Amino acid sequence: MDFTFLTASGAAWEADCTLLFLRPGQEPAVVAPALAEAAPWSEISPGRKDFQGKKDERVMLYGHPDIPLPRLLLCGLGEKPEMNDLRAAVAKALRHCRDLRLAALGLSEENLRELAGFFDLSLPALLKEVVFAALAGLYRCEEYRGKPDPALAPDPRRLTLLTTAKRLDDDLLRAARQAEAEAAGVLLARGLVNGPANVITPERLAEEADALALRHGYKLTVRGLEAIEALGMGAFLFVGQGARREPRFIELEYCPAGAEHDEPLILVGKGITFDTGGISLKPPLKMHEMKGDMGGAAAVLGFFAALGRMPDKEAFPRVIGLIPSCENMPGGNAGRPGDVVTTMSGKTVEILNTDAEGRLILCDALAYAQKHYKAKAIVDVATLTGACVVALGDLGAGVFTRDRQLRALVLDAADATGELYWPLPLWKEYDDLLKSDTADFANVGPREGGALNAALFLNRFIEEQTRWVHLDIAGPGYVSKATPLSPVPGGTGTGVRIFCSLARALK
Ligand code: BES
Ligand code: MN
Ligand code: ZN
Repeated sequence: MDFTFLTASGAAWEADCTLLFLRPGQEPAVVAPALAEAAPWSEISPGRKDFQGKKDERVMLYGHPDIPLPRLLLCGLGEKPEMNDLRAAVAKALRHCRDLRLAALGLSEENLRELAGFFDLSLPALLKEVVFAALAGLYRCEEYRGKPDPALAPDPRRLTLLTTAKRLDDDLLRAARQAEAEAAGVLLARGLVNGPANVITPERLAEEADALALRHGYKLTVRGLEAIEALGMGAFLFVGQGARREPRFIELEYCPAGAEHDEPLILVGKGITFDTGGISLKPPLKMHEMKGDMGGAAAVLGFFAALGRMPDKEAFPRVIGLIPSCENMPGGNAGRPGDVVTTMSGKTVEILNTDAEGRLILCDALAYAQKHYKAKAIVDVATLTGACVVALGDLGAGVFTRDRQLRALVLDAADATGELYWPLPLWKEYDDLLKSDTADFANVGPREGGALNAALFLNRFIEEQTRWVHLDIAGPGYVSKATPLSPVPGGTGTGVRIFCSLARALK
């Protein structure tokens, strides 16, 4: 779906259906007078009186079929809406219009301006959220069906801002293009997470990175088994050794001209394309969801997809994406509980549970990041622990860092996008819970505080001067129920928008 503008006068406006988002008591003609003038029939339309403005309420008003604005869809926001209520209303309205097979949809600038005032945002910032919600809300996953479902309605072709301005406002256009870029990244990430593990393999993730590098001019290095061995990534190799498919270590770089010597922002994404648990095998119930254990990797690739389409790439710093990717499988060659591995950092780890594999591939990627670069900041993102889901529920992501500024940047980014990210502690007092009888430390601690223990494990590989934040997206990386903005159970693309915002802040 394309986003466009129609400027000048209401007489020039055209759309199969124009959307209006209203709270109880708000009169369409007062909120959007130019629209009421361009669609004068709407005020006397019988449906007009049916609409109360309640949350999730939608009333379609019909005019004459041969006029340029034949329909208005009144969408209720409820009494005290929050931004996520507006996002949800937009997403649902777009799906409603798709079900009706409407091709060209309109938004009223007057309406958006009023909403921007209500939510205390600039008009471009509000438009960005509306366009993002529209695109995210239309997501479907149909590519693995044998033949297309003939009942599926096509996506609307166009979303148009109806404005009386004579000229396009550059800020507005840029905001809309940013939303399109971010949505493209989020949709790519969802597609990768929802793809089955027999298709989305480590090799396939590398191919996706290659396609992005080619399309957007990124630098790419993909390392296979031998190169990973040569780097001494003993923990990463341990996790991958039970699988027939070989691991990949993917390194993707965006470097603006002249920034070759800048300290990069480094994004590290967990890329376990399937997590059986290994020899510490998981129970079968919901095991299929572990095809989503590369949600962190998908977020990193989604970020690079978004960045490549940004209208203002110059606002981004040098960014490096690191993705350690493999399968965690049982088998004759799989690593065992009790095995001791030497990580890239030189520290040894006793594996007490082969299902705590994410931290093992990440610790070597983090060591690599610090050995090869002096980073501005390192952010790792991973579907790391079930314990984080227990703590924050299906939708909440844990934010672990001792760096107050980074924490604030992540939380502000989440706030601006409506994603649920929340700080969890990295208490030093829990550090000795990872002790091992044979190695420097173990890969698991007690069940209690499992998300913290995992974060503290990673923290052992972070050098004193490194600015680092760990994001545990085990909950929102893969949702078992649809949400308004993520209408297909499975991948949500969480992380992509956070990275976009964080990168801008660290330029
Ligand atoms: N990939 C899982 C974590 C996970 C669980 C993600 C549920 C999404 C939903 C991770 O590799 C794992 O298995 N973690 C273990 C750690 C434990 C063995 C210390 C867990 O959370 O049970
Ligand atoms: Mn696991
Ligand atoms: Zn895992």
